[in-house]
Amino acid sequence: MSQSLFIGIDIGTSSIKVVAVDFAGEVLAVSNTPISLNVPFAGWCEQNPEDWWSATCASIRQALVNIDTPEIFGIGLSGQMHSLVALDVNHQVLRPSILWNDVRTKTEADSIIEIVGEDALRRFTGNPSLEGFTATKLMWMRSHEPALFDRLKHVLMPKDYIRLRLTGQIASDPSDASGTLLFDVANNRWSSEILSSLAFDPELFPNIFESSEIVGSVTSKASIETGLKEGIPVVTGGADNAMAALSAGVYTSGSLLISLGTSGTVVAPIRSATSDPETRIHLMRHAIPETWYLMGVVLSAGAALDWWRRSSGRVKFDQLILEADLTEAGSEGVTFLPYLTGERTPHADANARGVFFGIHSGIERPHMTRAVMEGVTFALNDSLGLIKNLDVNISEATVVGGGANSFIWLQMLSDVMNLPLRTLTPDDGAPLGGAMLASVGTG
Ligand code: XUL
Repeated sequence: MSQSLFIGIDIGTSSIKVVAVDFAGEVLAVSNTPISLNVPFAGWCEQNPEDWWSATCASIRQALVNIDTPEIFGIGLSGQMHSLVALDVNHQVLRPSILWNDVRTKTEADSIIEIVGEDALRRFTGNPSLEGFTATKLMWMRSHEPALFDRLKHVLMPKDYIRLRLTGQIASDPSDASGTLLFDVANNRWSSEILSSLAFDPELFPNIFESSEIVGSVTSKASIETGLKEGIPVVTGGADNAMAALSAGVYTSGSLLISLGTSGTVVAPIRSATSDPETRIHLMRHAIPETWYLMGVVLSAGAALDWWRRSSGRVKFDQLILEADLTEAGSEGVTFLPYLTGERTPHADANARGVFFGIHSGIERPHMTRAVMEGVTFALNDSLGLIKNLDVNISEATVVGGGANSFIWLQMLSDVMNLPLRTLTPDDGAPLGGAMLASVGTG
């Protein structure tokens, strides 16, 4: 008997993940193909869109390998936010993608503030000018690679490039466009004001479709490369943080998603485009209409604990966490600030650095481990504080990512944030959001 399915694809930074989901929402198969990160100079992070595509083809084949006669009704995409995909007139990639975590563009981020002004930026985009956002990467390309920039005809986000390869169609959605700093997040359109201040041709940017809209179907060429049948509808999809929230059921005001992975994010859906007066927290459109979310990003969350594990004897995570569990709350007065790679929320400072404070001769590794976990917890709570300042009342949070497997970390979050928490089993995340949108879009 054939198996009716939807497929969700997430273009992550470390892997391309595909899920196959049946009509009851049950995840029947998950596959992950790792992709590498190129760091040609300190602070730079690039990937080849062609590598995303070959890993996508491999992941699709792998996910379907054990399913008897799969019949796929729709495909939805999710992807890393902000990363620049630059194409020429023939849809050929002009240069490697400059990723969200590439911080070469500090000068460009500062010059956007000078040209546009903080007030106009907040009014039109709801966001601050930071190295992570796509506009800074475009400015960098224009000043450092003018010959390539002259050939630029299309600007896409990673999941849009994969949709182009699947369907031949150029498009994007509001949730990913929000991460460019060129999109009018309140009014759901490219911001002609910001584009003209920065002298970017509006023709460079794709038409915007709702995240669940069908924008094309698998072409015969893509069918040969992926093994999928020609003609399967593909919906627009959305930004990975929006899709992770959707997959966790976090899309109404009052709910909160805390993702405790390498970095940490706090995502709070809201029903109007309300931004922080000092833009310390991001404002993005969600993957469902007339819904936005506020997002705080802690750059080193799990990464801080991993750094501490590597620096303090490379013991196993389980042992480290057990030691922390046997230590009293407050870590004997040791405080840790997790700004190991600068910070986004609330400080927005690429030069911020980590700190251990309050060490005395009675302090041992378990106190410091606990301090690291508490430091990350308080950093995430800083984002929650900014959300509450905007009169959003949070009643419950869902925690996902590797940190959600640690009971003690969950307890810390619950105590510090004063919230009931839930976790998800299994935690299939962003690609599941893609499959959900495919099911909605195809009816
Ligand atoms: C969000 C951000 C990251 C990427 C990771 O602003 O930069 O969470 O979306 O894929």
